[in-house]
Amino acid sequence: MSTAVIVGAQWGDEGKGKVVDLVTEAADMVVRYAGGPNAGHTLVVGGQKIVVRLVPSGILQPHSMCVMGQGMVVDLEVLFAEIDALEARGVRTGGRIVLSDRAHVILPYHLQIDGLREAGPKKIGTTKKGIGPCYEDKVARRGLRVADLAEPSRIASIVEAALAAWAPVVRALGGEPLGVDAVVRSIDGFRKRALGLMADASVIVDGAIRSKKNVLFEGAQGTLLDVDHGTYPFVTSSPAVAGGACTGSGIGPSRIQHVMGITKAYATRVGEGPFPTELNDDIGERIRQSGGEFGSVTGRPRRVGWLDIPLLRYAARVNGIDAWAITKLDVLTGLDEIRVAHAYGSPAGETLDVPAFGLDAVVPLYRTFEGWTTPLSAARTIDALPASARAIVRFIEEATGVPAHIVSVGQERADTIIVEDVFRR
Ligand code: IMP
Repeated sequence: MSTAVIVGAQWGDEGKGKVVDLVTEAADMVVRYAGGPNAGHTLVVGGQKIVVRLVPSGILQPHSMCVMGQGMVVDLEVLFAEIDALEARGVRTGGRIVLSDRAHVILPYHLQIDGLREAGPKKIGTTKKGIGPCYEDKVARRGLRVADLAEPSRIASIVEAALAAWAPVVRALGGEPLGVDAVVRSIDGFRKRALGLMADASVIVDGAIRSKKNVLFEGAQGTLLDVDHGTYPFVTSSPAVAGGACTGSGIGPSRIQHVMGITKAYATRVGEGPFPTELNDDIGERIRQSGGEFGSVTGRPRRVGWLDIPLLRYAARVNGIDAWAITKLDVLTGLDEIRVAHAYGSPAGETLDVPAFGLDAVVPLYRTFEGWTTPLSAARTIDALPASARAIVRFIEEATGVPAHIVSVGQERADTIIVEDVFRR
């Protein structure tokens, strides 16, 4: 068997899309295990861009099965719009998408509550896709699961109970609770289609592993947005770390062989919350523009900063990362100098440790690297990089104790240094 998890090591948007596209060539199955339409992965089909939020990124590889695990929250309207857009561009999806019977369904009141909260003073800067309220219902044991779609009377009773529970919250936020009928009607048109994709995803993923297929678990968001290990409360509501691949798809930890962490050569974050190496200056703006750092779901400008080694060491620990994919190194081309935070300073001295309760008080200490002007896109080995770019890669490897197996040096698929394949067959 060959199984690998690909996980974001920062705040999401690490360029997972390109890395996952490269890796899925050799993957027989791609499994998403957490999150929902808050994620956005830009695929290029026939020269046109499509952003998929729910369908796993293996969809462009005709041989690859795509599984949406029970750790996910699914907006059926978004899902079927995505599938229809893929089909309209000639991507055959029939028989290739599996939707877990236990995945939770995002309903109109989840979107309403997310929107109302974000309009208030305690906003998190969410994607307003209803993610948080849907997971809240899951944990409160009043969520609607895909399997429930088979019984219309069950849908109505679950929706009724959830609406009653949320009504005081909605009113307190200045909204008007939705009616049961309207909510039920909103999903009625998708019910049969969803049931057509439904299966016990755990059985399917386990079967693929047993028949020695290459199975890729595709994380969503990034480590620092993980509900347990991220910059709480400025996090998403699901596991973003590699461990979530097990609970979110229904397989055990002994089945996972390899965890690849993805990090940009700098850092970005969308939404509120601490960001020790943030750049609020012209250099930040320059990186934002040259890196195209605008949200693929919301279009928001992303906050930009320098790479943060203590956070990468933290991500390596909590995910068990055994190789890095370093992305967007080329975006730094042309800067006079490049900084990398190598430690945090504190009154007690330097430390590499990330404090358990927040990053608000840390002061990053930087190592400075010379800039370079030669484009990187032709490099196919780390040794072929300009000395300073190479030094940054080696510094990341040494400071984290994790080797770089992929370094992306441009937008095109071919603009990639591959030191070692993810599936070593
Ligand atoms: P939510 O997941 O929409 O509830 O948003 C919670 C936090 O996670 C916000 O800061 C979002 O900007 C962030 N977030 C959620 N999904 C992504 C993603 O795919 N990339 C980057 N940030 C995300």
